[in-house]
Amino acid sequence: MPAISFQSVSKVYPAAGKSGAAPLKALDNVSFDIEEGEFFGLLGPNGAGKTTLISILAGLARATAGTVKVHGYDVQQDFMQARRHLGIVPQELVFDPFFTVREALRFQSGYFGLHRNDDWIDELLSGLGLADKARANMRQLSGGMKRRVLVAQALVHKPPVIVLDEPTAGVDVELRQTLWQFVAALNRKGHTVLLTTHYLEEAEALCQRLAMLKKGQVIALERTSTLLNNATANVLYFKTDNALPPELAAQARTTGRIVELPASGPAEIEAHLAALRQAGVAVEDLEIRKADLEDVFIQLMNAPAIATPPPTTTAGVLS
Ligand SMILES: Nc1ncnc2c1ncn2[C@@H]1O[C@H](COP(=O)(O)OP(=O)(O)OP(=O)(O)O)[C@@H](O)[C@H]1O
Ligand SMILES: [Mg+2]
Repeated sequence: MPAISFQSVSKVYPAAGKSGAAPLKALDNVSFDIEEGEFFGLLGPNGAGKTTLISILAGLARATAGTVKVHGYDVQQDFMQARRHLGIVPQELVFDPFFTVREALRFQSGYFGLHRNDDWIDELLSGLGLADKARANMRQLSGGMKRRVLVAQALVHKPPVIVLDEPTAGVDVELRQTLWQFVAALNRKGHTVLLTTHYLEEAEALCQRLAMLKKGQVIALERTSTLLNNATANVLYFKTDNALPPELAAQARTTGRIVELPASGPAEIEAHLAALRQAGVAVEDLEIRKADLEDVFIQLMNAPAIATPPPTTTAGVLS
């Protein structure tokens, strides 16, 4: 039995405000399973539908169509059973400012019927670097510390499935490392992990399998290694102060002075270099590297939409 199963899930948000606005299809027939013990990544640009899918999984939003199950329990019909199997770290920081950290964790334990949970709470606090904050009020914590508490809260009932919605947004390098060590250790013990992140190097390092969402549709569902192996082979990386010739500029990813140009192989690398020389572009710190997950992501997101039927145009008839 899969740990999580999404079957033909759609979500339509009704049009807000003035009439005439179209309803928004945030999820469009999303289907995939996550197996027990997997470390799975859900990727996609802002607004792709990741949090909507997680909200439906958590029972916080209702799917317009389709079924979602956690360890076989339907998130609507068997809400409490499904919820017990899930630990969810939400994208938004929500907390009760009047609780201390320990009180918040005890309260959350109580929600799951666990009344003597302090040994595990202590383990969570020290594992997440919060031991010295146990008696601090939630409102006295910094943003990154609040996020740590949210992670601890999600784990109080030792859920077999852990869902993290952008847990490292706004989090310093040290906590990121602590968090990943902690979550990876749980995954090694058999916990299933579903992660969304915009840090693609994190996804590449951690996730065995990935789904990519674009405008509510799954446009890729693959093992991370397969995605990387199928990508355009290389990327030409360099720095420059000059403008690129237009035909290269169209393909390049530019970040300040840094230019990254995809290249399918040695012949294209040579062609790119020749074009740069001819255009008088002065190139510094030239490197040729293998495509990484960010390159794959950009390729897939920029590719023409899949599964859309060819436009049935009547233009020929009309003109
Ligand atoms: N409660 C809501 N009512 C109406 N529209 C919503 C609601 N929640 C989300 N949306 C819309 O649904 C789409 C998907 O949003 P969602 O939050 O799922 O994206 P996301 O992939 O999590 O993005 P991000 O990376 O920015 O977190 C967006 O167009 C968003 O504006
Ligand atoms: Mg989101």
